[in-house]
Amino acid sequence: MIVSISPGKAILLGEHGVVYGKPCISVAISLKVAVNIEESQEFYVNNEPLNEKKHAYMKKAIERMWNGKPISITIFSQIPSASGLGSSSAITTACVASLLAMKGEFSIEEVAKKSFEIEYEVQNGGSPNDTSACTYGNAILTWGKKMPGYLWEISKGNRKWYIYPVKAPDIKFVIGHTGTKSKTPLLIKKIRKFVEYSSFGKELIDEMEKFVIEGKEALENKDFVKLGELMNKNHKILHTLGTSSKEIEKLINASLKAGAYGAKVTGAGGGGSIIAISDNPERVANAIEKRKGKAYIVSIAKEGVKILK
Ligand code: PMV
Repeated sequence: MIVSISPGKAILLGEHGVVYGKPCISVAISLKVAVNIEESQEFYVNNEPLNEKKHAYMKKAIERMWNGKPISITIFSQIPSASGLGSSSAITTACVASLLAMKGEFSIEEVAKKSFEIEYEVQNGGSPNDTSACTYGNAILTWGKKMPGYLWEISKGNRKWYIYPVKAPDIKFVIGHTGTKSKTPLLIKKIRKFVEYSSFGKELIDEMEKFVIEGKEALENKDFVKLGELMNKNHKILHTLGTSSKEIEKLINASLKAGAYGAKVTGAGGGGSIIAISDNPERVANAIEKRKGKAYIVSIAKEGVKILK
């Protein structure tokens, strides 16, 4: 039996732009998944026969990476599914880590690369940001620009992304889950249409870049007021691109009214979650719960995917 743990992730700045090689900052969060794999008579996930629709990521991982005896995969997750918090990325990275370890081929870079391939195929698009954030832990910058100090590079077609470590302080964020699902592939497709068919869409994506670069500096310098301002600006663009919803706006407004420095949709949007930064996370969490959101006060997970010995 082998058990792997992976953190979920939250995007601080730059989602959607990262699909087009623009910069994006993410943190691994203290909500985690554990995946347990053991030999079995048949292929099972959570005691059910492996099913293409229900267990798409597991099915793809097995297809691509496993030709040994049947295995039974059991998942325990603290991360709500389709919430923009990296539930599928965390499950995929944990599963990939275990399969690699079982074959004696485990390395962090290989986990990030294989997990991205699987997620890309299942979602029919996207960037390696989420899977790399869950794999590495802490905080990362994903960018199409090559500079010294990157952890690994990942390419797809003619696009290349470089993953950089970010020095993140000990800080808590407030997540507000709307309770509605965020359908990442649909949102990626919607934004792609906007960007490809209108110069305005492309300009919006371009405009996010400077917020992300300034945001990295603000995070590293612990300038949370500035980071909050940049999150607000980033949200305005994401809203214009069409990734917000009534529920998201309600939780953002509640967070800002409760004194958050900034709040924005996190992840693909259309549902899912918001992320807020504040010097009083409990007050913001209470405000979110009063508006019927589910609040989580999360810290940055220092470790990424890990095999338990
Ligand atoms: O909502 P999530 O956790 O699937 O995050 C998606 C982030 C996007 O930038 C919208 C897509 C991607 O693959 O980078």
